[in-house]
Amino acid sequence: MNILVTGGAGFIGSHTVIALAEAGFTPIILDDFSNSDRRVLRGLEKILKQQPHCYAENCHSPSVLSRVFREQKIDGVIHFAAFKSVGESMQEPLKYYDNNIGSLIVLLQTMLEHDIPNLIFSSSATVYGQPNVLPVKEDTPEQPVASVYGHTKLIGEEILRDVAAAQKPLKAISLRYFNPIGAHPSAHIGELPLGVPNNLVPFITQTAAGIRPMLTVFGQDYPTPDGTCLRDYIHVMDLAEAHVAAMQYLLKQNGPTIYEVFNVGMGRGVSVLELVKTFEMVSGKPLNHRIGERRPGDVAAVYADVSKIRTQLGWSAKREVEEALRDAWRWQQCLSQH
Ligand code: UD1
Repeated sequence: MNILVTGGAGFIGSHTVIALAEAGFTPIILDDFSNSDRRVLRGLEKILKQQPHCYAENCHSPSVLSRVFREQKIDGVIHFAAFKSVGESMQEPLKYYDNNIGSLIVLLQTMLEHDIPNLIFSSSATVYGQPNVLPVKEDTPEQPVASVYGHTKLIGEEILRDVAAAQKPLKAISLRYFNPIGAHPSAHIGELPLGVPNNLVPFITQTAAGIRPMLTVFGQDYPTPDGTCLRDYIHVMDLAEAHVAAMQYLLKQNGPTIYEVFNVGMGRGVSVLELVKTFEMVSGKPLNHRIGERRPGDVAAVYADVSKIRTQLGWSAKREVEEALRDAWRWQQCLSQH
């Protein structure tokens, strides 16, 4: 079966391409490389032992999508293509609304025209804001969302809910990702942040590699056991496999209209300092770090209740944080050698 993966050259997209192929699907990438790197295709080829099928085009265009749907028999779509920088989204809100919401609308319209019902949408734990109750469940009341990026995810989910409520022939799942980290164990693909990384793990691995002088831990006065923020870090290959489980679930459903939301995490809160210590252990290197000010917009703690996805999709994370950090470090070392 052919699965179209928009944003398939990105961090989560490229790992999902591997997981799809391992499960017997044929992934077809649609990615305009505006925020990804063509080197990913070489890495994918090494792992898959063949060139992945790739359209280097923008999925915001109805004519591009129609052509892809005419040329390939597509059984389902996984929609990753979106802008994802929280900071930039606050500076350029229209760019984010236009790209992230616009492309979802065009994709849905074109899928309905071509009788393709199955869709997985990349959502994020950011839709919960700072939850009052932990761990967060899918029906935990949402708190105000802190960024334009977060709004685009929330609105994307609402669009899917509304289209399903109108009984359109759409079978869709939103996956709310917690904090994906790690890399493929082969070190042929991994995260490729442009410029200074915003996210914790790429910053840690770049500091250990000597690219950054020091990690700043953003705040140690949070109401958490060691004062630093708690997050639910999940290995990107586990997250990739959750997409496969979600697609397999949709393909088995007979009803014409389905819409479901699932958390995807480990179900555990890990603090910034715990993550730093674990990294030092797996890499065997002390990490140069200091405690700094809080980062505006950060929430103290967020981690998932993962019982819904375990019960309904039979998926749960298999890899520990140690393994994710080891894979991220191996990937960083390969990158540094090139
Ligand atoms: C961030 C985004 C979130 C997005 C996710 C994608 C914000 C506010 N949220 O989540 O919307 O879906 O990335 O992965 O940007 N930290 C440091 N020092 C650093 C970097 C991070 O101490 O140099 C801390 C942060 O304060 C946080 C934790 O590490 O407590 C994780 O940060 P990060 O990797 O940026 O993820 P989130 O902020 O959880």
